[in-house]
Amino acid sequence: MTQENPSTQALKWTSGSLHVLDQRVLPETILYEQYQDAEGVADAIKTMRVRGAPAIGIAAAYAVVLSLKQHYVENDENWKNKVKQDIQLLSESRPTAVNLFWALATMQTALDEQSGNPIAALQSLAEKIHADDIAANRKMGELGADLLKNSKGVMTHCNAGALATGGYGTALGVIRSAHKRGLKTVYAGETRPWLQGARLTVWELAQDGIASTLIADSAAAWLMKSGAIDWIIVGADRIAANGDVANKIGTYSLSVLAKQHDVKVMVVAPTSTIDWESESGEQIEIEQRNPNELLNECYIKTESLVNAWNPVFDVTPAHLISAIVTERGVVLNPSEQQGVRGLQ
Ligand code: MRU
Repeated sequence: MTQENPSTQALKWTSGSLHVLDQRVLPETILYEQYQDAEGVADAIKTMRVRGAPAIGIAAAYAVVLSLKQHYVENDENWKNKVKQDIQLLSESRPTAVNLFWALATMQTALDEQSGNPIAALQSLAEKIHADDIAANRKMGELGADLLKNSKGVMTHCNAGALATGGYGTALGVIRSAHKRGLKTVYAGETRPWLQGARLTVWELAQDGIASTLIADSAAAWLMKSGAIDWIIVGADRIAANGDVANKIGTYSLSVLAKQHDVKVMVVAPTSTIDWESESGEQIEIEQRNPNELLNECYIKTESLVNAWNPVFDVTPAHLISAIVTERGVVLNPSEQQGVRGLQ
């Protein structure tokens, strides 16, 4: 993990506790907060101090280790119930990113197989989940960059970078790898209302010396019309078996626009983001966040008739996606295959 750029590391496990880079205050402030219990980590996920599907899953895996350290007592079976309660609490922190549930299930299964003190084995497993995510991102970076040969330019949405993962990033991993091979033109959409693109993505790329151009979300159609880009590259929060993809709100609109302008859409995500139990996007729960993320102070204080609808993810149907890149391989035109089922 040492080769990753330390200034964009979302999570650090040091001296037996979890250090979380608070993404609410980036880029102005670099603030790591230390967590010693699962309850704190669940709150960090809920409040988006840590965000991005793979990073949420990794944080939850470390949180299970913190729970064990807090509750495991030899010859007292009650610790198991307390850890179970913490796992339940973590599972309620955010609903859409399936990596959270995958990581918790992986940790629970390993825990069930342990006899004796489980802390060392579970800590190794959490560290492995973290290291595997970085390795997957590097592999996907190369596979995705292979698809970008002779690309004029790309656009990304939200932040699917080191900040959203164990390191290197999914969509931004492809952009990092492609940049090393000569890709010059990278656009990032602001990603309202939380501004992951404006606050996180362009800053993260700059930390690696990669120039990018920020656009308002509403400028995407005009950008595509200009001919400056030939690929949209995004991450995913959950991929259904048929290849439908839940990702940050606005991904669906970009994909519809891409079709109109002959721009291709690449989704980059590790297989821990695939929900084999969801046949299609219909089964994916879409998180609704507080309307106050949209309503400014003025409206909240002065106009009780103004409401806001704030779904923070949407589902892009498989037929609008040109390629799904995973660490197990690339699925081209998933709606013409059997979705992503061939990767199982
Ligand atoms: O609400 P967020 O910031 O957690 O949403 C993040 C995204 O939608 C990312 O695109 C997705 O998690 C992939 S991150 C590699």
